Amino acid sequence: MKSFHIITFGCQMNEHDSERMSGILQSQGLVPAATVDDAEMVILNTCSIREKAEQKFYSELGRLAHLKGRDGKRITIAVAGCIAQQEGKKLLSRTPSVDLVIGPSDIARLSDMVAQQKDGGRPVVETGGDPEYHHKPVPVARTDGLKAWVSIMYGCDNFCTYCVVPYLRGRERSRLPRDIVAEIQGLADRGYREITFLGQNVNSYGKGLESACSFPALLRLAQEVDGIERIRFVTSHPRDLSEGLISAIRDLPKVCESIHLPVQSGSDRVLASMNRRYTSDEYRDKVQRLRNVVPSVSLTTDIIVGFPGEGDEDFAMTLQILQDVQFDTIFAFKYSKRPNTRALDLPKHVPEKVKEERLEQVFSLQKDITLLKNRRHVGTLQEVLVEGESRKGGTLTGRTRGNMAVNFAGTRHLKGSLVKVRITAAGPNSLSGELCE
Ligand code: SAH
Ligand code: SF4
Ligand code: F3S
Repeated sequence: MKSFHIITFGCQMNEHDSERMSGILQSQGLVPAATVDDAEMVILNTCSIREKAEQKFYSELGRLAHLKGRDGKRITIAVAGCIAQQEGKKLLSRTPSVDLVIGPSDIARLSDMVAQQKDGGRPVVETGGDPEYHHKPVPVARTDGLKAWVSIMYGCDNFCTYCVVPYLRGRERSRLPRDIVAEIQGLADRGYREITFLGQNVNSYGKGLESACSFPALLRLAQEVDGIERIRFVTSHPRDLSEGLISAIRDLPKVCESIHLPVQSGSDRVLASMNRRYTSDEYRDKVQRLRNVVPSVSLTTDIIVGFPGEGDEDFAMTLQILQDVQFDTIFAFKYSKRPNTRALDLPKHVPEKVKEERLEQVFSLQKDITLLKNRRHVGTLQEVLVEGESRKGGTLTGRTRGNMAVNFAGTRHLKGSLVKVRITAAGPNSLSGELCE
């Protein structure tokens, strides 16, 4: 086996896991193939967060199985990620064309598994979870040369009642600060300018470490790394958004004024039933506090509509909190039933049609808010990290500290530098401006 192709579904953690699997395989001498057709092994790195994500995987798997059967083409099919963890060896009986099943905490074993599977031997399954995975160095083949994801922790202990992640990614484990700093240093040395710390709940980073290190303390360590210009992080749980983190955003120049703070619902009854452990007023207070200390902060969120028991009044409170807080952008989803989760057994599941109507209402309200927020940038001077030429061509593209995309005229050699851009226009998804230096 010489070539591989990875198809990734799901969140940034999965994207980053794909970079790791690619790193491992390349260090074994395999080469990445641009398409499925050119590859001898195809890895599907899967997501199980909502039913739709699962369906996407099964239809892709169906296509691959068909390809494998056709003309006796010999491809190895590997399933990684959250559905691999969820289904384990059941995947083999369901789809006999699967050769390899590997859970997210077993990635370090990928090359052994590939060796074991070589020459079309018996299928190999590994979903036991390596308890030391978070301390193991894994080669990473990053797809971007400027911005890098850095995992700081794995798993989640929150058990929100709708969410499958704690069952699939296991208990919360933090990497050692010195391992993280060494990784960032290495990235800076290779020309990376921006890092994004990844974790399901970065604010509780450090729990269980032998020598204590809080998330703000980790940000301070990262601030010291020469060459890195920007530091971002996802995701923050509102309950754990501390004063320490708020001051760190204010005081550390490299930490961008941008935070993803999923609220999920505006109804206290629904929030309690989701096990989110904050009320809508506590959420509003935290946002107020954050904006008092960091006035320019950009704020994004996640919303779930149609959680079991969500009545019209509950939903009205979700619209109200969107109206009150005025998020820059939101991600909104219809509640989706997930295996093993506690919400499955709650009474009064909401009909699909109602969920759809509510989702539409959320999108239509937020569309106006986002446009209004974007327009407020017009006339301001923004620091932009230049990422290169825009996809359409003709202009450069980059991002503000608030993580808004900006297009502007300039020469290609600016890629990788921080420039000042005067914003001249705002659309629903991006800004345009003029270079100011
Ligand atoms: N750890 C992060 C993100 C987890 S998944 C956090 O706590 O915010 C990303 C988003 O998917 C969640 O914020 C939630 O809005 C949504 N989500 C998770 N499970 C879901 C489900 N069963 N149905 C619909 N949306 C869901
Ligand atoms: Fe899921 Fe809640 Fe953990 Fe986020 S905090 S991953 S929503 S259980
Ligand atoms: Fe999906 Fe797993 Fe991420 S369920 S959202 S890939 S943690």
